Amino acid sequence: MTSPRKILVTSALPYANGSIHLGHLVEYLQTDIWVRFQKMCGHNCTYLCADDAHGTPIMLRAQQEGISPETLIGRIRAEHEADFADFQIEFDNYHSTHSEENQFLANHIYTQLRDAGHISRRTIKQAYDEEAGMFLPDRFVKGDCPKCGASDQYGDSCEACGATYSPAELKNAVSAISGSAPVERESEHYFFKLADFEPMLKQWTQGEHMQPEIANKLQEWFEAGLQEWDISRDAPYWGFEIPDASGKYFYVWLDAPIGYIASCKHHCDKNGLDYQDFWKPDSDVELYHFIGKDIAYFHTLFWPAMLEGAGFRKPDAVFCHGFLTVDGKKMSKSRGTFIKARTYLDHLNPEYLRYYFAAKLSSGIDDIDLNLEDFAQRVNSDLVGKLVNIASRCAGFIKKRHQNQLCELIDNPELLADFIAAAPKLAQQYEAREFGKTMRDIMALADRANQYIDEKKPWIMAKDDTLGQKVHDVCSMGINLFRILIGYLKPVLPVLAQKAELFLNIEPLSWEQLSTPLIDHKINKFKPLMTRIDLEKIEAMMQQTQGELEQEHALKLSNSPKKTTTALDKEPLAAEISFDDFAKLDLRIARIDKAKHVKGADKLLQLTLNLDGATKNVFAGIKSAYQPEELEGRLTVMVANLAPRKMRFGLSEGMVLAAGPGGDELFILQPDSGAKPGMKVK
Ligand code: 2FM
Ligand code: ZN
Repeated sequence: MTSPRKILVTSALPYANGSIHLGHLVEYLQTDIWVRFQKMCGHNCTYLCADDAHGTPIMLRAQQEGISPETLIGRIRAEHEADFADFQIEFDNYHSTHSEENQFLANHIYTQLRDAGHISRRTIKQAYDEEAGMFLPDRFVKGDCPKCGASDQYGDSCEACGATYSPAELKNAVSAISGSAPVERESEHYFFKLADFEPMLKQWTQGEHMQPEIANKLQEWFEAGLQEWDISRDAPYWGFEIPDASGKYFYVWLDAPIGYIASCKHHCDKNGLDYQDFWKPDSDVELYHFIGKDIAYFHTLFWPAMLEGAGFRKPDAVFCHGFLTVDGKKMSKSRGTFIKARTYLDHLNPEYLRYYFAAKLSSGIDDIDLNLEDFAQRVNSDLVGKLVNIASRCAGFIKKRHQNQLCELIDNPELLADFIAAAPKLAQQYEAREFGKTMRDIMALADRANQYIDEKKPWIMAKDDTLGQKVHDVCSMGINLFRILIGYLKPVLPVLAQKAELFLNIEPLSWEQLSTPLIDHKINKFKPLMTRIDLEKIEAMMQQTQGELEQEHALKLSNSPKKTTTALDKEPLAAEISFDDFAKLDLRIARIDKAKHVKGADKLLQLTLNLDGATKNVFAGIKSAYQPEELEGRLTVMVANLAPRKMRFGLSEGMVLAAGPGGDELFILQPDSGAKPGMKVK
């Protein structure tokens, strides 16, 4: 055997502010299957991950829950680890970006980049929430799209028309935190000079370190020009403070990928290894990052540039995958298709999904679709109907008549040879992440195994005592074929494989051992290995998802920022009037010749209004807002044809117009200069 490869593998670090859902699982299952395959082949493969524990959303969620960010990220990390473990996603180490190792490494990498001249500083303008006392990330500014006018759009892009813009361009912008209108404020920011690495990145792109679709995307990014990357955020921010810049913090995306190294260091420190062996430029370890296509920019531009600039090795490859759709549409909360990992686990066997995703995955970046009917049908037909069925058809005869002992010969050596000969192609497909093809090929072999048993019909032969040996031969052959199939599927179905190993009474299967059949070997009692998917369980999972959505919605409403009430909310428009109604009003410009207090009145001032030809005595309720002397000589607007009203203090012959939100605040209306007393307001 060739010497084992040393391989370091990562999946993207999930944010510590939300649950793992089926969309996330595409990636973790893809990576886990790949890693399990490498380990089964005897390679020295280490699979690392961590929670991505910094950033504004985490800070705000902790605030909302009234707990510290540390408490929040501790709780979410425990949830994540439990979800992963229950889906049989087996990390060699799981850490957090909010860790000693990550702070040390982030500081180190930043300092190296700064000392080599790759960091610049400049003052920028940014949306600031004066009520919350913080700068607002683009996603926290909402308003009307400047292009199509759609309301409730984020500060960076419009979901309705796809336009991209800056938060300052949004119309009627409000902060998603406090509901107040943001202002622009200046602050000094730190930037990573990505363009310094352009020649290196261009060369790196040529080297098959990514899928062709991503390499093409990189070409577009090069053509658009590599911009400096803003790596700092102002306090208050939940992250690591920049060593030489008090009150400034590393942007979460700076220390997130450094979390890969931090998790590695944590793993190495625990196991007496040196993390630098994995990360030095001449390392003999292969390094692969599995990520979603949405974060390719970070992993194929910023990350290799940061690593190069700080004196570390670069990844051998970045493998991107597509998104999960449900019934052909983007997973969506409102459609009730946003299924959480835990909700799935409450109802269904995780290996059903492991198999279904494997059957759909390829090395490309196309989205993969979960159709729940297809899911049930595929799993029931392939795993239960084809695979497990082989063992259950054969085991009974071996137990009953041969005390669970397999026979000494292989009934159909050609068929066995074909099964064994499939191994190199399957291995090559696993290696190339062509899991869908691999599953199809394995199921084609399962069909052949079932055909073989169908043709031999041991259940008929068993009725003839003279054919006892033949039944033994055929069923032993069936069990051997089953063993090989289970071995091929072991990276995808580790629990089923473990149960099968127990049934077969064998050591954990390695890829290499699969070519050696079980001859004259005692197996154990057969127990059902997997049951069919019950459609009612799928239904129950969907109902729970719907219930969770409603609960979340209610919680959001009770936590949502106090929306500033508009003037119209406070005082809705009065019932509509006709033009004729309006025409009945005689509004005139009036000069306030005299204004005086009214003895015994709390709110009223007595005004003498001059209409150039007539004088009106009016008691106006504006005492809270004006001193009499500041009114004398001013022009205002009055309703001049209001029927006189007898008041306690005398006759009031009209009304002056004033606006106000209610209470004591009032503003009398005043015409532009040029208006003259007595003019009609039209
Ligand atoms: O997009 C995300 O969910 C990020 N938390 C992924 C980070 S991956 C790595 F860079 F840490
Ligand atoms: Zn728009």
